[in-house]
Amino acid sequence: MPNSKIGGLGYYVPSNVYTNHDLTQYMDTSDEWIQERTGIVERRYATKHKETPTTMGAAAARIAIERAGITKEEVDFIIFATLSPDYFFPGCGVLLQRELDITKTEIGALDIRNQCSGFIYGLSVADQFIKSGMYNNILLVGAEMHSMGLDYSTAGRNVSVIFGDGAGAVLLQATDKEEGILTTHLHSDGTYAEELAMINFGSHGGYHDDKDYGFSVTDKPGGTFVTTKMVEDGAYPQMNGQLVFKKAIVKFVEVINEALTKTGLEKSDIDMLIPHQANLRISQFVQKSMGLSDDQVYNNIQKYGNTTAASIPIALCEAWEAGKINSGDLVCLAAFGSGFTWGSTLIRWA
Ligand code: ACO
Repeated sequence: MPNSKIGGLGYYVPSNVYTNHDLTQYMDTSDEWIQERTGIVERRYATKHKETPTTMGAAAARIAIERAGITKEEVDFIIFATLSPDYFFPGCGVLLQRELDITKTEIGALDIRNQCSGFIYGLSVADQFIKSGMYNNILLVGAEMHSMGLDYSTAGRNVSVIFGDGAGAVLLQATDKEEGILTTHLHSDGTYAEELAMINFGSHGGYHDDKDYGFSVTDKPGGTFVTTKMVEDGAYPQMNGQLVFKKAIVKFVEVINEALTKTGLEKSDIDMLIPHQANLRISQFVQKSMGLSDDQVYNNIQKYGNTTAASIPIALCEAWEAGKINSGDLVCLAAFGSGFTWGSTLIRWA
């Protein structure tokens, strides 16, 4: 049975930098509040009408493909994770295929909707496809354009200050050596689905609560994903920040330990932990409760904010480019987010 290794990786962040101070033009907030609660200093925003998750994902993917030493025509399968897709449907997978100009090969393209855990879920799916012998070269992309869908008024400040735009990509390749992905672990608990969510626009019709979304109640078929009332109210993400924090710090540790137990490895064996960049305070809490040193954990949320599905591949690539990840190292990736969903993986770096 082949193993799967990360053969190439790349990332792209837009050039527009927005500092915490810049955000004070739009809402009642401060650099001090944001840094103290989240660790974020600045984030990048894509250029509207020019950049999208697909174009950013393609930029990251081109680098990953080149570094893997293959041509784009050799990619066997695409997996795209995002919560901020270009379109409601079709998903970004096929748009990426077109953007990369590889439609002639007619490879499959899968879209992953697991928000902050999207990259880990995608990695696990890719790993199974490679281990089963179905594919040899899988392109996995995580990309987000949050800036297009956040409430930049004071009412939305608890959410909007946290997120940023960007993309990361890896090229997963089959290998006969004892290297690459050692294990992956995926979990969810839908009890908390609305605690970190963007429920509008959608086909719920208001079934899960008593709010008036302006849906006309009729037995006739036909309706709309978006009502005038939703547009007037603003369709923005909602987050129970304190609950997310409490759950995240428990589940991050649990799922990392699960991976260590499965592989018979110890916390001290981890050369680099890259947690999903949700919030620097969450990462610091996880680091402390696991007793990991500063050298064992990589964070870059200070520069980019929380880029959801893109945060792990961006951080992974940055850490690798900085020489912090080398052949033979044990790399742990872990995520927690909307759903709630969470997951982890351990990788023996090739
Ligand atoms: N600037 C200034 N004040 C703010 C801001 C802001 N951007 N946002 C909220 N406030 C105010 C609130 O209005 C509130 O004011 P009040 O006391 O007058 O009512 C006060 O700050 C405290 O609000 P809380 O929501 O209780 O703030 P908290 O200390 O919980 O911090 C935060 C909010 C940072 C979101 C925190 O709950 C947290 O870190 N949660 C984890 C969630 C997270 O990191 N999510 C990331 C995305 S999800 C993921 O990737 C897993």
